[in-house]
Parts: sequence; C-alpha cells; structure tokens
Amino acid sequence: MFNLENLKKTDPTIAGLIQKEIQRQRDGFELIASENIASEAVIEAMGTPLTNKYSEGYPGKRYYGGNQVIDEVESLAIARAKELFGAEHANVQPNSGSQANQAAYMAFAAPGDTIMAMDLAHGGHLTHGSPVNASGKLYKFVHYGVRRDTERIDMDEVRSMAREHRPKIIVAGYTAYPRHLDFAAFRAIADEIGAVFVVDMAHFAGLVAAKLHPDPVPYADVITSTTHKTLRGPRGGMILAKAAHAKAVDSAVFPGLQGGPLDHVIAAKAVCFAEALQPSFVDYQRQVLANAQKLAQTLSAADIRPATGGTDNHLLLLDLSKYLTGKEAEKHLEDIGLSVNKNMIPFDPRKPFDPSGLRIGTPAITTRGLKENDTAELGRIIASVIKTPTEAVKEQARLEIKKLSAKFPLPY
Ligand SMILES: Cc1ncc(COP(=O)(O)O)c(C=O)c1O
Repeated sequence: MFNLENLKKTDPTIAGLIQKEIQRQRDGFELIASENIASEAVIEAMGTPLTNKYSEGYPGKRYYGGNQVIDEVESLAIARAKELFGAEHANVQPNSGSQANQAAYMAFAAPGDTIMAMDLAHGGHLTHGSPVNASGKLYKFVHYGVRRDTERIDMDEVRSMAREHRPKIIVAGYTAYPRHLDFAAFRAIADEIGAVFVVDMAHFAGLVAAKLHPDPVPYADVITSTTHKTLRGPRGGMILAKAAHAKAVDSAVFPGLQGGPLDHVIAAKAVCFAEALQPSFVDYQRQVLANAQKLAQTLSAADIRPATGGTDNHLLLLDLSKYLTGKEAEKHLEDIGLSVNKNMIPFDPRKPFDPSGLRIGTPAITTRGLKENDTAELGRIIASVIKTPTEAVKEQARLEIKKLSAKFPLPY
C-alpha cells in the first residue's frame, strides 16, 4: 500500500512529503495521547471517489440527487455507531470534534447563555469555552477545576458552581485528565438545575466502546466525540444523543454549522465502528490501559511524578518541575524520535507555551504492538533523557528508540 503511483506523476513534491511523513512515523513513536494509527482499511475507505459526492441533508432527505449509495453508507455508519455504544441516536457528519462540540452548544444554548465545563488549565479543551475559541466568544462559560490536594475534579465545586450560575449546559470531558469521570454525579447536578448534560468523550471513546471505562451513554443527554483518538478511526467527529434530542442535534450539524458531509470520511467511520465491534478491539484497549499503567509505574519509580499519582485511562500527565520545563522535555524527546506534547499541570505556575508538564498517551504505541515490557523500556529511556538530557545520553536513547521502533513496524 501507499505506492502513490499516480501522485508521484502529477505531484512528486506532495508524494515525496507523504513518504517522508510515513517514514517519520515508522522511525519513532507517537506518544501524543490524542493520536493513533488508523488501519489500512480505514485509510483505503478515505481515499475513494466518495469524496466526489455532495449529500447535504441526511439519508432519505438530501438536497441533491444521486445519493442512493451514500445513503446506504451513512445509514450503516449510524447503525454501527448506535450498536457500538448502545445509543438511541447517532450523527456521524461532524467534520471534527470541535464541530461536534459547537453543534451540541448550538442545539441547546443561545449566544450569551451560560455553559459550564472544565478549565483548560486543569485539563479541559479549547472548545470548552476558551476566550480564543468561538465557544468562549459566543457563550458565557464558567469553569470548574480540580482540587489542589488531589488534582481530581471536585464534584462539590461542580455542584456549588452549578447552583450559583445555573448553566444551560454542563459539559464533562477532557483533553488532559488521567482519571475517570463521575457521570452519575454530573447527571444528578444537571437534573437539580434543569441543565442539559453533554459528555465530550473525544479522548476515551475507544475505552467506552470496549466497555473498559465508565459508560456515559445512560447518563448524558448528548455525547460528542472524535473518531481518531482511542477509537482509532479516520480524523473526524460524531455525536450520540437520546432520541428526544435527535432533531435538535441533527439540525445544529446541518444546516446549522456544516455544509456537505465528507462522505469518504463517513465511510471510513463506518469501517472504524465495524473494527471496534470486533473482540480484538477489546484486547487492544485492555493493552492500552495496561501500557499506561506500566508507564506510570516506570516513571514514578524513576521519581517523575504523574499528576494525581497515576492514571485510570490511556494518558499520563507528568509533572517535570523537578527537572526541566515541558517545552524543553518535548524538544529533547523529539530529538530521540518520540512525539509528545508539553502540557499545563494543575495549578501550574508556568505559562501554556512553556508549562511544567508533559502529556503522554499509549494508544498509538499499543497499535504498534508494544506490551508492558516494551513500554517499561520506553519509560526508562524517557526518564533517562528527562533527568539527564546531555548529548551523550540522548545519542544512546536515539539508538535505543530506533532499535525498538524497528521491532514494531507500522501496519503499512
Ligand atoms: C476533549 C476534546 N474535545 C474536542 C477536541 C477537538 O477535536 P478536533 O481536533 O477533531 O476538532 C479534542 C481534540 O483534541 C479534545 O481533546
């Protein structure tokens, strides 16, 4: 696969860059918690003439003719998403997780209304009301955070803020929080003040699909997600909802926010859902969790502290303040072939562009086939570079990563 024969003839520059990126992915390891390695089947579905079609609307109700086949593709994707998550309704058209969130807000709040979500500096996402994002400009966001002593979400604070601000929507979900969320408690708080409860499961959707994570479906009115993180599908978004909210959600996605859906990506989402329905996907997610536990143990043993003391999911938030900054660590690890991202830790005295922490996730290395022993080796290499980032240590680490990555080739 990826011989890129036609592309090499019509655009050798782009063909060359694609090959260079594939090689970069082969040579090192992606430890970015929001990334994964999609299967060849998912990628094949994306590279098809389905991209040629306009299909504004929904199956059976399109604004253009010629959608007989596209209707079948989208209906299948919807049916599989509902089966996978046990949801009453699914919308597979959001082009991204950000657009899924925008649609959820648009469905239940008017500009100026109050929405409550997790603070970006404590693990929330930009689309959860950051002032630089449309969400923060359109709605009045109030943010809950984590407790200083436990670094975990303080449900008493969530309750008292909800009573004080009476938001129209309460959002639970994160981009950098290593622990489970208490969906039942969020639901009870939303019920007390009559708010809509939205869960953004972009990060942990794959764990939910495998039933290895608390399930938000019985509790949330609406669930937004990406399809490319732990779920390991194509880059994109989706929304699940209770049947009563189906119309509001669908109209917010189209015509509210988007135009013609990306039918080639919807086909790839259908493939991803079918893959996630296989027993092997549960084994994969079990290994994602085992590898995250092993990484937490290895780094803790090397005196590198994971925030909250560990992890319940696929990611770790490391406090590097004893050794170097997050930006420095990101660069040193990139130099040895590991992609990670700098991240704020709770109550970080430093700024977002050079914070005290690092976020590390295990979805992509687990797809490559690493087991606990290999992950421990990776952890020891990471610790050696973080604690002693000299050229000699880095050179040794670079060789070790090269050797380890050669043992676990990409599927393509
Ligand atoms: C919790 C959460 N929501 C939404 C998004 C946005 O997804 P996308 O990058 O597809 O817009 C992300 C992406 O990292 C995320 O972590």
